[in-house]
Amino acid sequence: MNILILGGGGREHALAWAAMQNPKCDKLIVAPGNAGIAGIAECANLDINEGAAVVNFCDENAIDFVIIGPEAPLAAGVADRLREAGILVFGPSAAAARLEASKGFTKEICDAAQVPTAAWARFTDAQSARAYLREKGAPIVVKADGLAAGKGVVVAETLAQAEAAVDDMFGGAFGAAGAEVVIEEFMTGEEASFFVLCDGEAALPIGTAQDHKRVGEGDTGPNTGGMGAYSPAPVMTPEVTARALEEIVKPTLREMARRGTPYQGVLYPGLMIEDGAPRLVEYNVRFGDPEAQVLMMRLGAQAFDLMHAAADGRLEEARVNWADDHAMTVVMAARGYPGAYEKGSVINGLDGLAEDGFHMVFHAGTARESGKFTAAGGRVLNVTARGASLQEAADRAYGMIERIDWPEGFYRRDIGWRAL
Ligand code: AMP
Ligand code: GLY
Repeated sequence: MNILILGGGGREHALAWAAMQNPKCDKLIVAPGNAGIAGIAECANLDINEGAAVVNFCDENAIDFVIIGPEAPLAAGVADRLREAGILVFGPSAAAARLEASKGFTKEICDAAQVPTAAWARFTDAQSARAYLREKGAPIVVKADGLAAGKGVVVAETLAQAEAAVDDMFGGAFGAAGAEVVIEEFMTGEEASFFVLCDGEAALPIGTAQDHKRVGEGDTGPNTGGMGAYSPAPVMTPEVTARALEEIVKPTLREMARRGTPYQGVLYPGLMIEDGAPRLVEYNVRFGDPEAQVLMMRLGAQAFDLMHAAADGRLEEARVNWADDHAMTVVMAARGYPGAYEKGSVINGLDGLAEDGFHMVFHAGTARESGKFTAAGGRVLNVTARGASLQEAADRAYGMIERIDWPEGFYRRDIGWRAL
């Protein structure tokens, strides 16, 4: 099979790595890819948010199956264009991708399907939003309705912070994404990520994870795209996982199908768990980054077969071959991230590292200049390992980091601290 993966981060490196383990993969192209991905697959330049360009590329390269990594092409309808052209694709339609692209839409679905989530209200002007804030009081959560690259959520501890967030959003800080604002009840509990493959009808859970969003050790400092993750999430016991599937994911899938917009791809609910009861924080319509790195490390080659079965409507008969293992990924970022950082510093020591079913360095943002890897983004490397215990996975990941020579980079030394 000839496969195309859209995207160019650590998540796509992990997806490409899993696909390459599978004997069904004859040729793999990743667009745009990155310097790490170029070590295992062909990388191609392509406007991945442009459906017609992706369809043409598939025709020219005899692509049989497309896996869409990030949310932007999904929200832009690239999966729709591929399906219209008769090309097998893993990823939801634009209509189904609204579960991530519009917070207000997700809340409507939750109400219609009786999915447990925070109480909410939706506004199109600052005055009524402020009145609602004063009525409810702090802490409270203010969200830009649309896609804002993970930055459109303000967990406000005071009324003043909440009001400032409302003014920012209606003032255009997030462009069109902030034209509507959702205000939510502040939920307490422990957060976890859940990953479920869907083929429009059937739902197949493929794992759980927890990530560290704050830049600093002890989960302090500004929010980032994620500084590390581990799988499984201890808080996702079999009971909590079953409840999340039955009370949150399945009612959502039924409601999406009832509306004529069935969901196909990976559905990734962010959950808040308190006293054994899961509530929905948000939906993502793609794999998490860096959560995909630990999931792929644990699933290996079967991940490709499972995604293929989801795309092909054959999930009902698919089974996950679970191993009793743990995986951890530690993000190495450029000094300064998530603020301003420099690009172009040289990373040494990568070539000598083992790359096998227990150790992988997935590249999130690297380039290759005169034969050397250089940093080309904020999050640069995802040092990932698997073991019989989380401690073993952590020891392996941090052991690899010791051998990477990159003075301009930094990482958190405490990934997984809650679980260890
Ligand atoms: P989201 O992009 O919706 O996942 O929000 C980003 C982060 O904000 C989440 O991972 C939570 O930590 C936090 N958050 C979002 N909504 C709520 C809520 N209703 N209550 C408490 N925390 C929230
Ligand atoms: N790591 C969180 C996300 O991918 O949304």
